[in-house]
Amino acid sequence: MSNPQGVAVVTGASSGIGATYADRLAAQGYDLLLVARRADRLAELAARLSAQYGVQVETLVLDLANASDLARLEARLHAEPVAVLINNAGVGALGPTAATGADAQEALIRLNIVALTRLSLAALAGFGTSGEGALVNIASVLAYGPSAGGASYSGSKAYVLNFTRSLQQEYADSRIRIQAVLPGPIRTEFFKAQGLPDSIFPDTAYISADALVDAALAGLAKGEQITVPTLVSPALWDDIEGKRLAFLGEVTGGRVAERYLQT
Ligand SMILES: NC(=O)c1ccc[n+]([C@@H]2O[C@H](COP(=O)([O-])OP(=O)(O)OC[C@H]3O[C@@H](n4cnc5c(N)ncnc54)[C@H](OP(=O)(O)O)[C@@H]3O)[C@@H](O)[C@H]2O)c1
Repeated sequence: MSNPQGVAVVTGASSGIGATYADRLAAQGYDLLLVARRADRLAELAARLSAQYGVQVETLVLDLANASDLARLEARLHAEPVAVLINNAGVGALGPTAATGADAQEALIRLNIVALTRLSLAALAGFGTSGEGALVNIASVLAYGPSAGGASYSGSKAYVLNFTRSLQQEYADSRIRIQAVLPGPIRTEFFKAQGLPDSIFPDTAYISADALVDAALAGLAKGEQITVPTLVSPALWDDIEGKRLAFLGEVTGGRVAERYLQT
């Protein structure tokens, strides 16, 4: 018998935030399709989750920055629609941008932007058949933070945020849920994975992947479209949004600012 909850796909499930999403979604009763490059990590997690929660867990060892690997997952999502996609796999290519190099920046764009975009569209096409589903895109608070040493990273996360918000507008009249999650610093292997010290922020700046994912899932359950688990003052968000809309209203007003008209 197939699982009535359906299948949840988690990219970047071999560690950190993705592994925690896998745990929580298995606990909610979803069968899982877990994707990353490290086969051993995926196999270990799959064995633990299927034993602990009694769900089916499949693993796919793919490099999502590679076009043919990405196409395999896309084709799978088209052929076998899923209930949930957590677009979580991401890299930082952190460091002085010129020194990190064009290849590392391009690899980041392939993963953080191209794979996330193509997989979002494949999942949404599948949701179309049942009329419902949940797409969760993991951005970052750096979507709002241009950062020296994280040029492509912060750029990619700004893309994820605007892409996801635009999709929310397009699917506003449907039962499909689309959420952007903006983590602050999280204790994972993220920094070590790119050869950086684990503590690039002060210790007090970090929260755990458990805390992040539990808050993000609580936000999803409440119907939030954008969840920023460490934003403690909702009024600050209302301010940002109010100013953003005022800005857009003014800059589409059809007139050039006085200061550019003085000769
Ligand atoms: N940690 C933070 O402070 C923080 C803050 C804001 C946002 N985020 C975002 O959260 C997401 C998860 O990061 P994390 O903190 O959990 O870091 P992590 O522990 O390093 O996890 C990254 C995951 O992405 C996978 N991955 C990396 N390159 C891949 C590729 N080419 N193809 C397929 N999978 C790939 C990794 O698995 P394999 O190496 O096995 O492929 C791993 O499972 C990322 O999108 C990151 O930008 C993290």
